[in-house]
Amino acid sequence: MGHDTALLAVDGLKATYNHAITALDGVDIHLARGEILALLGANGAGKTTTLKALSNLLPAERGQVVSGSIRFDGLDVLRTSPGTLVRAGLVQVLEGRHCFRSLTVEENLISGGLGRGSTRAEIAGDIEKVYAHFPRLREKRRAFSGLTSGGEQQLTAIGRALMSRPRLLVLDEPSMGLAPIVVQDIFRILRHLNREEGLSILVAEQNSAVALKYADRAIILENGVAVLTGNANDLRARDDIKSFYLGQKAVAPSIPAVVS
Ligand SMILES: Nc1ncnc2c1ncn2[C@@H]1O[C@H](COP(=O)(O)OP(=O)(O)O)[C@@H](O)[C@H]1O
Ligand SMILES: [Mg+2]
Repeated sequence: MGHDTALLAVDGLKATYNHAITALDGVDIHLARGEILALLGANGAGKTTTLKALSNLLPAERGQVVSGSIRFDGLDVLRTSPGTLVRAGLVQVLEGRHCFRSLTVEENLISGGLGRGSTRAEIAGDIEKVYAHFPRLREKRRAFSGLTSGGEQQLTAIGRALMSRPRLLVLDEPSMGLAPIVVQDIFRILRHLNREEGLSILVAEQNSAVALKYADRAIILENGVAVLTGNANDLRARDDIKSFYLGQKAVAPSIPAVVS
């Protein structure tokens, strides 16, 4: 893949917390327009740190990018404010299905459209589009989010992100704590948005099985280093991946790493 055509290009990213703890020690990510890329890794591998760096949110966590670069559609991310990145189309669904529990589902969606300075008519139109993708949210539109199920809260968080009209949607472990059938639903909708609307998607997951089923490509992080990248189908066929990189049994990989 030509790196100049990448929508997102992360090169040699190193990051610390409190100027002491090394969280990322060499992460490269190239995401082409229109692709679904999975960022896989065990707990503590550096997925969330990577995603926060993409939205320039590390300073708020006392984290520092110490070297490397991040470019989103020509923008130098590390010199761009989080709000500007959202308006440029880089929109993130943070870990833990954040929505406002005391607002209704629909009010949560409206809140997602406000940051863009959309008109009321635009917001109403965008809400209809979200409901078309998530009929479940239309049924629950008047319910307080705090009283909806975990899956509905995750859908609300994704719907709110869509209200910002992303070009790159970034999700941090959308499967966490949800029943397998709900997880499949969410990934099916994400793939539909990708295939039908050309939405580019970067999704961090510990659940490699579901992520590799729906992604086009994947990158595996281990101890803050991107150790392996390849087509999702190829990686699915390798049973050493899960055991070696994703925190189950320690078995050495039998096939050499593919270097992008
Ligand atoms: N706010 C923080 N302060 C200090 N260390 C952190 C912080 N957040 C994460 N870390 C450390 O950075 C490393 C990467 O964590 P993280 O990016 O959260 O991994 P993942 O999302 O893959 O589980 C871990 O060693 C973790 O303990
Ligand atoms: Mg995480």
